[in-house]
Amino acid sequence: MLPLANKRIILGITGGIAAYKCAELTRGFVKAGADVKIVMTKSAEEFVTPLTLQALSGNRVHQNLLDIEAEAAMGHIELARWADIIIIAPATANFIARAAQGKAEDLLTTILLATPSLIAIAPAMNVEMWTDKQTQTNVEILRKRDVIVLGPSSGSQACGDVGLGRMLEPELIIDSVTQSFQTDILTGRKILITGGPTREAIDPVRYISNHSSGKMAYALASEAVNAGAEVLLVSGPVMETVPERVTCLKVTSADEMLHLVLSRMQDVDIFIGVAAIADYRPAKEEKQKIKKHKNQIDLTLIKNPDIISEVASLPNRPYIVGFAAETENILENGIEKLTRKNLDLLFANDATETFGSDVVASTAIFADANFTIKSGKKSAVARHMLQIIASKLPAN
Ligand code: PMT
Repeated sequence: MLPLANKRIILGITGGIAAYKCAELTRGFVKAGADVKIVMTKSAEEFVTPLTLQALSGNRVHQNLLDIEAEAAMGHIELARWADIIIIAPATANFIARAAQGKAEDLLTTILLATPSLIAIAPAMNVEMWTDKQTQTNVEILRKRDVIVLGPSSGSQACGDVGLGRMLEPELIIDSVTQSFQTDILTGRKILITGGPTREAIDPVRYISNHSSGKMAYALASEAVNAGAEVLLVSGPVMETVPERVTCLKVTSADEMLHLVLSRMQDVDIFIGVAAIADYRPAKEEKQKIKKHKNQIDLTLIKNPDIISEVASLPNRPYIVGFAAETENILENGIEKLTRKNLDLLFANDATETFGSDVVASTAIFADANFTIKSGKKSAVARHMLQIIASKLPAN
């Protein structure tokens, strides 16, 4: 199989002399099996023609943010979501500065803000510009946002200077992009992920639930598929779009989730319980809408089944990963849940920052060790979590 088969790459080209190498870069990505779409800034067009890149990529080149025709075909948000990775090569000092400031003044900067995908930049500029403090601060800002920085390399430059600032050679960029997918870490693994909240009916119009948006579970599902896994997502009611190549089955209550999960456990290698399952449900679901003429009503709640504990008690149980959102004593409570529920690994996070958010910081807890995963986009943190999980699995 080609190393970038099934991968979708946006190659963003900005206005530097190294832009001429993008023809070779595009050809290399296509040869490696990727579907490549090109986005060019205005100044990039001074160095290389859109026609060349269109011919090499086999796709229409995207140039303007406010282009009615292009928006009708594939809007900028759709484009931002389409990509598995966005690589900016060359990334000029000016572009890096604009990206670090979070500008959205042209198509490429806008896509960077809108994308949930991996972003990489291959800086290319004069050595003095690269070593300038402001450029280094800008690069650091991007690194903190989990942008992968490829290069630059050292050597003689177009301006005659010698030193750091040359864009990495296309084959090295292609190697790094290939590695960043690490396509094989979950190949051949079957993963069942639960996500979102559950809703526990009080009457036909009311329910008990929580603030889970499903973002963490959907990010894990998407990244697991990218890493080669077969993924079944059992999801409570959320607004998230099901990632491509993920099989998603929707449920409403904890009871439904339990039955569906247990009926689908065959051959599952990894179970990841991200769902924020309601711990209790009303003892009785009223058949008719409860009238509000009383000042007070009593609601009796009974305990819901603990899905992850049931999975943990199965014979031939899979590798089991739990999640915990805590408002205090995150580590202590996480360790207690890992032990009580008989899990292999638990990711504990701060409930006040995690529900509904696009970012998360987490602590990975094992029976004998724990370490923190730094705050980042849920997609980036999900990749890190899956690397941790993959490293613990026996060879298949
Ligand atoms: O959906 P998002 O907005 O992206 O937010 C993500 C999240 C905060 C929901 C997620 O990161 C998270 O922390 N999920 C677990 C929430 C939680 O606090 O779970 P818990 O402590 O109640 O349960 C611990 C573990 O047992 C979890 O793996 C849970 O899925 C599982 N559990 C809990 C109760 C139950 N009845 N059955 C279970 O299987």
